[in-house]
Amino acid sequence: MMPLLPSSSSSRAGLVLAVAVVSLLSCSSHVAAGGRHDYGDALAKAILFFQGQRSGRLPQDQAVTWRSHSGLSDGSAANVDLTGGYYDGGDNVKFGFPMAFTTTMLSWSVLEHGGRMPTTRARDAARAAVRWGADYLLKAAARAAAGTLYVGVGDADADHRCWERPEDMDTPRTVYAVSASAPGSDVAGETAAALAAASMVFRAADKAYARRLLDAARAVMGLAVRYQGKYSDHVGDNVGAYYASYSGYKDELLWGSAWLLWATKNTSYLNYLNSLGANDGVDMFSWDNKLAGARVLLARRTLVDGDKRFDPFRQQAEDFICRVLPNSPSSTTQYTPGGLMHKSGYANLQYVASATFLLTTYAKYMAVSKRVFYCQTLRVTSKSLRALAKKQVDYILGDNPLGMSYMVNYGARWPRRIHHRASSMPSVAAHPAHIGCQEGFQRYYYSGGANPNVHTGAVVGGPDERDAYPDDRADYSRSEPTTYTNAPLVGCLAYLAGKPNK
Ligand SMILES: *[C@@H]1O[C@H](CO)[C@@H](O)[C@H](O)[C@H]1NC(C)=O
Repeated sequence: MMPLLPSSSSSRAGLVLAVAVVSLLSCSSHVAAGGRHDYGDALAKAILFFQGQRSGRLPQDQAVTWRSHSGLSDGSAANVDLTGGYYDGGDNVKFGFPMAFTTTMLSWSVLEHGGRMPTTRARDAARAAVRWGADYLLKAAARAAAGTLYVGVGDADADHRCWERPEDMDTPRTVYAVSASAPGSDVAGETAAALAAASMVFRAADKAYARRLLDAARAVMGLAVRYQGKYSDHVGDNVGAYYASYSGYKDELLWGSAWLLWATKNTSYLNYLNSLGANDGVDMFSWDNKLAGARVLLARRTLVDGDKRFDPFRQQAEDFICRVLPNSPSSTTQYTPGGLMHKSGYANLQYVASATFLLTTYAKYMAVSKRVFYCQTLRVTSKSLRALAKKQVDYILGDNPLGMSYMVNYGARWPRRIHHRASSMPSVAAHPAHIGCQEGFQRYYYSGGANPNVHTGAVVGGPDERDAYPDDRADYSRSEPTTYTNAPLVGCLAYLAGKPNK
């Protein structure tokens, strides 16, 4: 991912707006008919995307063959093995914070909606995607009992000064860690959540692995609670300027405890999370702020399991939904003229996907418990949440004013110039010679041509607040895909692929 606050954003915004107006005018006549989508196909593609993001030694069954081994000595700077894991977006850095959130959301997608995935092949692929993230997080947590958690590999500033394939990268693979003296409750809380969630994914399929994950989750949560602080205060700007937890770390303490509570049933986590007083109202859910996700997760205990101690979280979850629904009197969420939630000018579809995941999950809980609630005058049912979730997913898949699918290789029109190093340059198989740092910019980044490697399933940052999309590699706010967009979308697509209210 690019830094969140690029200095040139205002001039760039002006240019994008000009392009937007032109493309809206020229395309306004072919508004897509509300088509039937093949959610099973989109689901398989959304999962396949994770193979293209893999770091480390790739296995024999790697289906995305334009990628090869990379980062094989990651961790050596600290004498640990930190190979594997995922690149977060279009660059070659491994950021532990969003990688953990990605793994949590992939796991939650499988736990909540895996039963609706149309084929065992899809379920197996989703589990493999969880495992690729969880394997790395286990390595990152290997010294957690001794007080250290590794939270990233790769100097992001140096990486961003180059346009290089991951297989070619030669910028410093700096290792970042948190510890007692440099605490990071945000990244530790999220990593604990990911390990706990993944342990439940494998509880039936691989007991020994699930136990290792849960032991690591407990140890990492212990770090988060014992040594409190924001990791961005300690790891330096070449991580902190990219993925600082702007919301603080209380939300991750809540979220991590909520996952450990579900995974262990140990009520000391319930006492702890109740003591946090994490009660702010929110209308967004993301790699930064997990309050809404934690509340929905905890609401499950009252709606599905009938445990009334969790009613306050149900209320907070419903407050979040009332802030998101377009026709709710208490809505604080903007929608584009074409009907897409618009939360941010930066990688907006990540927020759409994560909020939509919560809508599908809450719709499921409401169906199970036959619950109906009100946003002041607006009556909210499981069906109304499903309808909004479907509308958001259908928009992403092509039912929008441009008739453009924002998932690469799904539908008739999709982004050809995604902001992604490996996708935008020839594969190592096609072009074995090393492509240098600046050569990459000159020959590929600035070329107007379509990416040579089709990154199937990649969901880009998406259109602007007026439904326009320039398909410009340099416009990274809109053209970069991320793992934490696809991870919750996997759950949304599984939900829609299954039968209603199953
Ligand atoms: C529950 O968790 C607490 C805090 O981590 C721990 O001290 C306690 O031993 C656990 N209880 C059980 C039954 O595992």
